[in-house]
Amino acid sequence: MDFKIPSASKIRGKRVIIRLDLNTQETDKIHYRFLATQKTISYLIKNKAKTIIVLAHLGRPESDKHSVSINGFDCYNEKMSLKIFKNVLNKLYKTKVFFFKYSIFNEKFEKYFKAKKLPKIVLLENIRFYSGEDKNDLELAKILGNVGDIFIDEAFSVSHRKVMSNTAITKILPSFFGFNYISEIKNLDKIVEKSKKELVVIIGGAKIKDKAELLLKFIDHSKFVLVGGGIANSFIHNMGFEIGKSYYDDISISNFSKLNFNKLLLPIDFKILDNAGSVKFKMNSEIEATDKILDIGNFTIQQFVEKIRLAKYVFWNGPLGYIEDERFAFGTKSILNFIKNDKKRKYVLGGGETLDTISQFEPSIFKQKNVFVSTGGGAMLWYLSKKIKN
Ligand code: 3PG
Ligand code: MG
Repeated sequence: MDFKIPSASKIRGKRVIIRLDLNTQETDKIHYRFLATQKTISYLIKNKAKTIIVLAHLGRPESDKHSVSINGFDCYNEKMSLKIFKNVLNKLYKTKVFFFKYSIFNEKFEKYFKAKKLPKIVLLENIRFYSGEDKNDLELAKILGNVGDIFIDEAFSVSHRKVMSNTAITKILPSFFGFNYISEIKNLDKIVEKSKKELVVIIGGAKIKDKAELLLKFIDHSKFVLVGGGIANSFIHNMGFEIGKSYYDDISISNFSKLNFNKLLLPIDFKILDNAGSVKFKMNSEIEATDKILDIGNFTIQQFVEKIRLAKYVFWNGPLGYIEDERFAFGTKSILNFIKNDKKRKYVLGGGETLDTISQFEPSIFKQKNVFVSTGGGAMLWYLSKKIKN
């Protein structure tokens, strides 16, 4: 696999399979993840690719109880169908976009791509509807390989997963990377080289299983790791403290008492929803069995900002509260606001939810010179932790 963009001669008249990350709930406006990969798609159109076959995922259908095995899909889930993105792609590229709704195991699949003329962009159904995606299955890759001439990986945000659509497929087709993927790596490398111990890491969101191990590694490689969101709840619960009815996940950390709590900062207060449905501020020692923690509190915000002030570089992944509900977005918004007004520090922000948060609350951050917005969340953390030496 070449770590470069394919040259024009490799594209002209070819069927190009491209892995994109369209993983967002936002379909009414054009999401940052779409914009980040625009340069590559435009380059393919300009260089006269015969057709651009888009592979992407939405959500985690494999672990959703409503997914069903039907019509050649192993875990089909209407809510996670990619058909909702057809119009966005169409708007962005002003070209015909065809949504291929059938399974790639359907006999129509190969026939379709053998046609002399094809639409400029063909969007395939959610690649996670096939169990072979997660299993990095070579047979699945071969079926796809039959309809394409080259493959481009433009989904940096999935690079921490070894799946069919970024690994097995590269064994089948000549493979390259997109402009955004390459720029992600260059930017993250730059930060790793410079960061040393001047780094503060902020981690929130819900995907604890993806992040716990990395988070611990970051403790050694940064001034502070500030934790909020569902991840903070999980830490607090696993340490044996009350979190009431709050969201949490089990984490397998053998010895919590050995963690360096001078560096690992968990929230000291919260905004909660109580049994009667009232919103309240509580210190962590005041949480009751019927409370639901939904945001960090004002003391925690203050403390986090103080620590951020001590950094030269800041990485942030995952919101610090339940931002879907305005009442619990204040912690996340406060940190975004600090960043918006800070021209001194260098920031790397990333993650699906983090991107949604920026576009919802502070979209000017996307254009801010001292901020690099990564399309990856778990991928960004994984890459950094691999790169940062002990
Ligand atoms: C993301 O949104 O972080 C990426 O699309 C990867 O999604 P995943 O965490 O479900 O693999
Ligand atoms: Mg995500």
